[in-house]
Amino acid sequence: MRPMIIAIDGYSSCGKSTLARQLAEILNYRYIDSGAMYRAITYALLRKQVDLDDIEAIQQALQDICLDVKYDPIQQRSVVWLNGQPVEEEIRSWEVSEAVSRVAAIPEIRAFAVTQQQAMGRQRGLVMDGRDIGTVVFPDAEVKIFMTADLHTRALRRWKELREKHPEISVEEVERNLRERDLIDTQRTVGPLKKADDAFVIDNTYLDEAQQLQVALDHVKAVAQNLPA
Ligand code: CDP
Repeated sequence: MRPMIIAIDGYSSCGKSTLARQLAEILNYRYIDSGAMYRAITYALLRKQVDLDDIEAIQQALQDICLDVKYDPIQQRSVVWLNGQPVEEEIRSWEVSEAVSRVAAIPEIRAFAVTQQQAMGRQRGLVMDGRDIGTVVFPDAEVKIFMTADLHTRALRRWKELREKHPEISVEEVERNLRERDLIDTQRTVGPLKKADDAFVIDNTYLDEAQQLQVALDHVKAVAQNLPA
């Protein structure tokens, strides 16, 4: 099978990264979580207390942000590094989740991230998940998957992940955060979250991880069979 690009887009917390990671492992592809890059930028701006309404300050701060995605053999996954430090833990904080969609809607920030994501795709054999991967970053991706699930189901899943670190956060609050992020992500002018016309839709409200993987793998195989040699 010739190496492809697999683009997975969809709403907040609907299992994109779980599926992306599993596909990458099975196909022996690299996996890049583009959301982690926007989270790392957000974390850097919050840490520097940059005013998110001050575009000049943001542009200035971007000059000091160096992102890298490296494979961590202990966690057996790729993690984002910010200025020479792994920041996987920090970027999953509630504070970052509350600010990230606002940051990701800024055109200068998107241009900064998209350029780096496209460079990562020069070598095919890649799964990338996000919001604009099949529409903007890799419109020529061989496989495009658009994932969705019922909002309450997504909130419950994310709340279970967060429970240990943030016992003070309720399911309702998680649901509010997801609703807000989806709204900002779908309504921004640059790279809005939307299904690419040629994307294959997976609604995983009633699918478990194994079923979702099977549906996606069947689709990937069908696409691969129809590609010119
Ligand atoms: O929480 P979840 O895993 O669903 O989100 P994420 O993939 O970590 O992405 C965090 C945020 O980054 C999203 O809510 C979007 O605002 C933004 N994002 C984006 O704008 N474009 C992408 N390609 C990926 C993420």
